[in-house]
Amino acid sequence: MSDKLVQLVDIPQRGDARGGLAVAELGGALPFLVRRVYWIHGTSPGVSRGFHAHKQLRQLCVCVAGSVRLSLFDGRREESVVLDSSAKGLLIGPGLWREMHDFSPGAVLMVFANAEYDEADYIRDKEAFIASRHGA
Ligand code: TYD
Repeated sequence: MSDKLVQLVDIPQRGDARGGLAVAELGGALPFLVRRVYWIHGTSPGVSRGFHAHKQLRQLCVCVAGSVRLSLFDGRREESVVLDSSAKGLLIGPGLWREMHDFSPGAVLMVFANAEYDEADYIRDKEAFIASRHGA
């Protein structure tokens, strides 16, 4: 297994002369069954969001319009990636602190998740997250 925090997957493109069509399906871009989809849009200028980790949740993030920078932190290392294409998805597994920055005007970030919303799965305290990663 790669030790890279940023795990990008290709989203197959099935567009033609009429325009774009991107596909995320199980066994293709999606390595898990989707139980929830949400999208972040209309983000106010200068706003950053996220600032949490998940205990179990797996997600695939696709910026379907505009761009956004995602920063991932495993308790030791931080890596950042700009998502600016619906042809790339970012897989985020459990145990990663994530932040979303630099939303472009009109950016739409779609998130596919393998579980329903559950506040108990969140770690919202960064110090508690770091302690959990270091076995404290
Ligand atoms: P939150 O996860 O804090 O947003 P972000 O981490 O992207 O900044 O969610 C914001 C609010 O929306 C919070 O009250 C929880 C609620 N929410 C749901 O009810 N269902 C969901 O699937 C998500 C992602 C959030």
